[in-house]
Amino acid sequence: MADTLPVETLSLVDGVAYVDETKGSDETGNGSVETPYQSPVQALLVHGKDVKIHVWKVAAADSDEVSGYTLISPTALKKAVKKLAEVEKKAKKMAEQAAEQAAKDQAAAEERERVLEAAKQVVLTEDASLPKATSIKIRNGVANRGKRVKVSGWVHRLRVQGKNMTFIILRDGTGYLQCVLTDNLCQTYDALTLTLESTVTVYGVINELPAGKTAADNHELTVDYWECLGKAPGGEHAMSNKVNENSDPSVKYDLRHLVLREEKASNILKVRSEVMKAFRSYFDGEGYVEVTPPALVQTSVEGGSTLFELNYYNEKAYLTQSSQLYLETCLPSLGDVYCLVGSYRAEKSHTRRHLSEFTHCEAEMAFITFDDLLDRLEDMICGVIDSVLAHKQSADIVYKLNPNFKKPERPFLRMDYSDAIQYLKDNDIKKEDGTFYEFGEDIPEAPERAMTDKIGRPILLCRFPVEIKSFYMKRCPENLRLTESVDVLMPGVGEIVGGSMRISDLDELMAAYKRESLDPSPYYWFTDQRKYGTAEHGGFGLGLERYVAWLLNLHTVRDACLYPRFTGRAFP
Ligand code: 4AD
Repeated sequence: MADTLPVETLSLVDGVAYVDETKGSDETGNGSVETPYQSPVQALLVHGKDVKIHVWKVAAADSDEVSGYTLISPTALKKAVKKLAEVEKKAKKMAEQAAEQAAKDQAAAEERERVLEAAKQVVLTEDASLPKATSIKIRNGVANRGKRVKVSGWVHRLRVQGKNMTFIILRDGTGYLQCVLTDNLCQTYDALTLTLESTVTVYGVINELPAGKTAADNHELTVDYWECLGKAPGGEHAMSNKVNENSDPSVKYDLRHLVLREEKASNILKVRSEVMKAFRSYFDGEGYVEVTPPALVQTSVEGGSTLFELNYYNEKAYLTQSSQLYLETCLPSLGDVYCLVGSYRAEKSHTRRHLSEFTHCEAEMAFITFDDLLDRLEDMICGVIDSVLAHKQSADIVYKLNPNFKKPERPFLRMDYSDAIQYLKDNDIKKEDGTFYEFGEDIPEAPERAMTDKIGRPILLCRFPVEIKSFYMKRCPENLRLTESVDVLMPGVGEIVGGSMRISDLDELMAAYKRESLDPSPYYWFTDQRKYGTAEHGGFGLGLERYVAWLLNLHTVRDACLYPRFTGRAFP
């Protein structure tokens, strides 16, 4: 039954309102035979107490009567009239309450308007007798305690404590700073209308906090003057209303530019930056030269099925899958080389470790053996962890996001592909169809991760069969069915590195092109490496996002990117 009063009285035929308890409706009925009400109260409510109510009566199966409308019984009518009184009373009370609330809201709005109007008269001026403020970034706050400073940033958190005190947590990308505004500083128009994500410049002195109080860096800035530079929207357009922890993932990716302002997202990017620095510093320390190979290419490295094709001045070109072949060409001129650039894969994979564009850390080394390659990989992975953890801010983030993080113990487990196939059998890890993986089959993501998680430590998985690996891989001298190849598997993520020794012999390479049905002509520059002074060499590629996801225990590599690119998403 609708408990609102009628807006218009509906006319009835002969003043009769029809009621059918099972088929009628108080919401959509109008009292006619065709669309009866559900309750007698609704008939009284809409048409007044003098209405004649006819109710649908179902005849008992064993009686001579027939079902049909009959005049309401006096008892039922009495009951309905009583209920009507209750309904009217309730409706009256609600109307009174609504009017009271509206009056209160109106008064509050007028009071707010009055306060805001008055606040416009509060104009702040910087006290010229104070020392000139030095502009600083928040990360330098500790070193600048006790001096008058000027800090600009975004309002990350805001807490108004009565009329005379407002706390702002300011964010400038380098850190967070608690700022306290007192008295007229928090009574200006801007102070009263300040919103999260607005930009401000605050002036004042940073002081250590007394014992018992907490804030970032254990200090706060006592503001003596401030300005609002740009106000962010409040209310329904406030950032927290557009996107928050509970938002759908697709909303979060659409609004990634706002999500990046949150602590977790920005912390991940800070660690990512440190990881990139650590890789560079590792390679630099080992004497590698950094190169930047092209993204636009006309040859494939990892098979044609995952190439993004594009029209390049009316010729077919692709986005590179790997810079490996170019790195190989640098060995004779630059010695060991590495690059840290984008690679692109067009596979329509939706797994949590696949991206369409990822940052690929690749290295190539000359005159090494397969064992050297494995040692170097292990050395690099551990060296980078040590550098990242030596950076205090990054270490804090690593342990905050991944409290159980433990540096992997060396040496890593070295396991052959054939032993992995046996491991899957011994541990009952099967295919979806219930059969076991057999030698010669690719071990996909799920079983690979199941095995890695079960072993619980990094694995250098070595010597894959020729048929499941790329054309350029060198065969194992002791078993020509196998390649000198390696995948590094990490618990939680699975494969983070793919690497191998490369074919150094010209004839062998020509045979490999043939086996893979690759036309050798566009690869002439790669082939030439085997003609103009060949060398045993090898290298690897590491997915930066996978490394970061492993280090920070992220559920998906997408969160390790600034703006992730995956199937169906190339924006914003
Ligand atoms: O195993 P992959 O395909 O090896 C190569 O591209 C070699 N040419 C690298 C080389 O020897 N220089 O890829 C190497 C690594 C993977 O282990 C993974 O970490 C990352 O690159 N990777 C991806 N990361 C995110 N999304 C994808 N779609 C990726 N594909 C590969």
